[in-house]
Amino acid sequence: MKIIAFGVRPDELKAFEYFSKLFKVELQLEKDMLSKENIDIVKGFDGISVVGKCKLCKETLDMIKNLNIKYITSRTVGYDNVDVKYAKEIGLRFTNASYSPSSVGEFTVMSILNLLRKLPLAKEKMASNDFTLRGIQGRELKSQTVGVIGTGKIGQNVMESLSGFKCKMIAYDPYPNDKVKEIAEYVSFDELISEADVITLHLPLTKDNHHMFNKNVFQKLKDNAIIINNARGALINTQDLIEALNENIIGGAALDVIEREHEFYRADFSDKEMNYKELVELRSMPNVQLTAHHAFFTEQAISDMIECSLGKLKAFFTNQKVEDALC
Ligand code: COI
Repeated sequence: MKIIAFGVRPDELKAFEYFSKLFKVELQLEKDMLSKENIDIVKGFDGISVVGKCKLCKETLDMIKNLNIKYITSRTVGYDNVDVKYAKEIGLRFTNASYSPSSVGEFTVMSILNLLRKLPLAKEKMASNDFTLRGIQGRELKSQTVGVIGTGKIGQNVMESLSGFKCKMIAYDPYPNDKVKEIAEYVSFDELISEADVITLHLPLTKDNHHMFNKNVFQKLKDNAIIINNARGALINTQDLIEALNENIIGGAALDVIEREHEFYRADFSDKEMNYKELVELRSMPNVQLTAHHAFFTEQAISDMIECSLGKLKAFFTNQKVEDALC
């Protein structure tokens, strides 16, 4: 069985070596993303492993299918980069990965605490020798209501971790989960946004929830509410968020993801001019924490992603049952 993996980073090499030996797969690693331009390299391989920056649109999927590839796995949980419905239509199988939910879960708890305790401003003050307490009085998590939108594995992990802080927790998800019901109350989306002091997003991006947080919604939030997005950038209208922050309609934001991030994140722009005005504006705000989509980035998660991607390909090619990603 011959597998080719795209978008491979140096931090993944050890796990690729380990799991390719364990699963006895012949493996070729490519640091480039899979695209129409380099599609010919997949000729002669049986399966492909990709990441979120590989855009698998209809045209690319047709080309992959014509090159006789049977199965594609992604090393990511989210797969808004893949036209899964079309892949299914043309009989090209695709599935995503699952990995330790504590990776993003713990990062989320840290982000909530950072914002509540005004850490972005405190770091700025420290760097400019301002050792006063001006502007950095915080809020205790225990006295807050946390609203979790999306209660899959990551949302649930966040709530389980937060339960130790004894804060009130409410949740919104069209598919409620019995385990979550033991520690939180499910409410409607409108109730959640008007009652929560902290809102954290843990849902996949679909065409129905694009810009689910926009001007209209920001206006309905509780005074001083903070929002955490470690899911997908396009869940929030960035321009509307900036306006809400500038007008003090909300108290702060922690964003590990942002619209247009694929143009910048994972590249080193330290000696280049940044021409993404919204990002530049957000990172200058004292109540905003910005990180470059690395909430997932733990040793355990990297190992799980590669185990999952190669393991599912191995299972498929040895005629075991593998669940495709939902359309
Ligand atoms: C995902 O798994 O969906 C993520 O967002 C993390 C990815 C960038 C590795």
